[in-house]
Amino acid sequence: MDYKKYIAEKLQVEGVSSEEIYQAIALPPNTEMGDYALPCFKFAKVLRKSPVMIAESLKESFVTDEVVSEVSAVNGYLNFKINKGGFVSATLDKIFAEGDRFGASTVGAGKTVCIDYSSINIAKPFHIGHLSTTVLGGALYRILNFLGYKAVGINHLGDYGTQFGKLISAYKRWGDKTAIEEGGIRALNELYVRFHKEAEEHPEYEDEARAYFKKIEQGDEECLALFHWFKELTLKDVQKIYEMLDIRFDSYAGESFYSDKMQPIVDELKEKNLLVESRGAQVVDLEEYGMTPCIILKSDGSSLYATRDMAAAQYRKNTYDFDKCLYVVAYQQNLHFKQFFKVLELMGKEWAKDLVHVAYGMVSLEEGTMSTRKGNVVFLEDVINKCIEKAYTIIDQKNPNLENKEEVAKKVGVGAVIFGALYNNKIKDIVFSYDKVLNFDGETSVYVQYTCARASSVLQKAGERNGYTVPELSTVEIDLVKAIAELPETVKAAAEKYEPSYIARYAVDVAQKFNKFYFDCKILAAEDENTKNFRLALTAATLQSLKNAFALLGIGIPDKM
Ligand code: ARG
Repeated sequence: MDYKKYIAEKLQVEGVSSEEIYQAIALPPNTEMGDYALPCFKFAKVLRKSPVMIAESLKESFVTDEVVSEVSAVNGYLNFKINKGGFVSATLDKIFAEGDRFGASTVGAGKTVCIDYSSINIAKPFHIGHLSTTVLGGALYRILNFLGYKAVGINHLGDYGTQFGKLISAYKRWGDKTAIEEGGIRALNELYVRFHKEAEEHPEYEDEARAYFKKIEQGDEECLALFHWFKELTLKDVQKIYEMLDIRFDSYAGESFYSDKMQPIVDELKEKNLLVESRGAQVVDLEEYGMTPCIILKSDGSSLYATRDMAAAQYRKNTYDFDKCLYVVAYQQNLHFKQFFKVLELMGKEWAKDLVHVAYGMVSLEEGTMSTRKGNVVFLEDVINKCIEKAYTIIDQKNPNLENKEEVAKKVGVGAVIFGALYNNKIKDIVFSYDKVLNFDGETSVYVQYTCARASSVLQKAGERNGYTVPELSTVEIDLVKAIAELPETVKAAAEKYEPSYIARYAVDVAQKFNKFYFDCKILAAEDENTKNFRLALTAATLQSLKNAFALLGIGIPDKM
């Protein structure tokens, strides 16, 4: 049962919708005051009354019942006490009835959301900079599906541009087929780096590269075959990472896929008189909207990133008829998205309003930043493997006799990388630190995983669980039930704000409250059989909730640690 909703619907505030009341209801910092609180200062303006008076009069008109047992007005807050027994058993019953679906809903039924994420560049390193888009997008994909939406995962591959001409030039000059076959992205990247180094002394290589790129575009058989081979090698390499991170796509249509789909966009722009010439290039002037012009065609007639994105947006609308199309891309590209969204709007595409740039902050390693051209990059694969190794060392120290140490280390290490990228509000820049993400006592995935292992172990020791009636409850127990009950709302909010961090924070909050409960209340050695059964049920419900939350983030939970 959603108590906030229950209260919101029962309250009548003139000129304020029950949805607004619902949003305003919060959990008070101190549970002695009540289980939920409505801060009345939010309505002072509309009602032209002081918060204290509003709280008083709302209290007078509120009739308590079997759900809300007490209402009080304190300093402009309206506090509610819930009939705990009913609340607690309803929450646990719901969790057991729904199991893996606890937290799910059907709010998105019939709606399609495209998610453009990860969107790696062919033949370039899959580096730590791609971590956020990959795990954020992956989480949003799972979250939206969990809420009944049809999510379409799209890897908008960066497979278009002169860099492929450069690679062909470098490969023909220095390349070795077997070495590249074996080395994958790393070997391709070395070629790319070498090209840039040597082109400094041989500027003619650059011309050669441009010529090769033209050949790809013109469909030259040999060049096209090399290009496809680079692409295949890259995708094979990244697949390993996607598997570890539990990442899936429904489409790999990348930039080159739109080569033959841009002309209609260009024609339409012309027809609608939106194109102007600027230094030989064709651009859409956006000065009126405070932006630099959006370049559509270069002076040599070649297309740009924005042109391909516009063709892609149109293609997605035609193909998937999306209700929303998300782009999970770093904030460095803010202007790019603002520009082409605006141009589509100016073209009269009513659906331009459904395009959303889900921007996120930078991830850097403690060791420093990187540049693809110079070759000093940090491969994501190396970061993940290092995390797994470190996790193994810690686990081996803590529990040398544990079975499947490798498997556990993998879940812990991969989880640490994912959680490290998802725990903070996505727009924040983060500095990735191995010690921090693997801290067993921090706000980390391993802390949550360890808590789950603790819960599993209690349940295993107990064996079969029996029925119970809700006993006299401590604040610690009630706080835990309230925390786990928040999952459905948390998942919805995460989808609405494109913030998987809400779910990560939910998990840490639940784990902290469970540990308090675990140390404060005897579970297996409870005062009586009924209390023991209740506490076991609470333990099982906690574990289920944490499993569901972590599944949405793409993080596994070991049974034992
Ligand atoms: N490949 C691009 C990059 O690494 C990201 C593409 C994002 N998606 C898009 N539709 N523009 O910067």
